[in-house]
Amino acid sequence: MTHRFDPDAHLLDLATVSRERMEVLLGRAEHYARGGTAPQALEGVAVCTLFFEPSTRTRLSFQLAAQRLGAHVLGFDVSTSSASKGETDLDTLRTLEAMGVRGFVVRHGREGAVRELAGRAGPRSALINAGDGRNAHPTQGLLDMLTLRQAKGTDLSGLKVLVVGDVRHSRVARSDLQGLRTLGVADIRVCAPPALLPGPEVLEGCQVVPVLDHALEGVDVVMLLRLQRERMEEGTVESLDAYHHAYGLDARRLALAAPGAVVMHPGPVNRGVEVTDEVADGPQSLILRQVANGVAVRMAVLEALLGGPQPPHGLA
Ligand code: CP
Repeated sequence: MTHRFDPDAHLLDLATVSRERMEVLLGRAEHYARGGTAPQALEGVAVCTLFFEPSTRTRLSFQLAAQRLGAHVLGFDVSTSSASKGETDLDTLRTLEAMGVRGFVVRHGREGAVRELAGRAGPRSALINAGDGRNAHPTQGLLDMLTLRQAKGTDLSGLKVLVVGDVRHSRVARSDLQGLRTLGVADIRVCAPPALLPGPEVLEGCQVVPVLDHALEGVDVVMLLRLQRERMEEGTVESLDAYHHAYGLDARRLALAAPGAVVMHPGPVNRGVEVTDEVADGPQSLILRQVANGVAVRMAVLEALLGGPQPPHGLA
């Protein structure tokens, strides 16, 4: 059976999320971050974390978020599933839908794969993009916006924000930049090796500053990115030492930022490459606050997409 694809039934990226919708999600996430509960919000709902790429934070925080809302949670391990016998992604989705699963948290190595699946999903299903290739990681973008609001206040428009590192391969950077623009941040700087800069469509509204010491001057927020070596051709980065020398954040460099500047990184961190231990574990680091906020944001997103009256089980 075919049905009209409703993009609002899913969370596929932040480009199509209005400021109003983002504020509502962040407000609800703040409620959960402060210890708010809704233990029956997803009672009777089955949620599957369908990860075709590795993850620690996103997968486990979605599972915890769904459990805290009272959902049944199913993990999907590609290596022990029938996907390893050649079952297609769509047949996997339809098999789970036939079991009554309604929430699908999907990570995939290919850009656009989650949107394609959402376009073929049944009318009761909600898909959440947990990262597709270099395209988007919307819940990471939302949790980063929540973390920024907690640290700097709800009006982010006057902030100076610097994004440093492998922007080219980063779905986190794309979602963070979309989130920052939506919430009115006007001063966004980007610093990266030329080979790790993305196309101009990603950098809309950003100022590229090639030298890190210059880029850091007076910024309120430093958003570091992981070097995505698994998505790079060999030789893109000369050496990790050379990268750290030019683009690594250490205490001397951090002192160039505004007093009280905060440091963020989506994780996993390549310690000694993107950032020194001293900074990653120091008082200006929000890295573990980002992780904690991941659970709260994912509760808000799951509730928004899957809460409310439940349709009966069975094939539509
Ligand atoms: N930040 C992030 O997506 O981390 P994981 O790959 O561990 O989920």
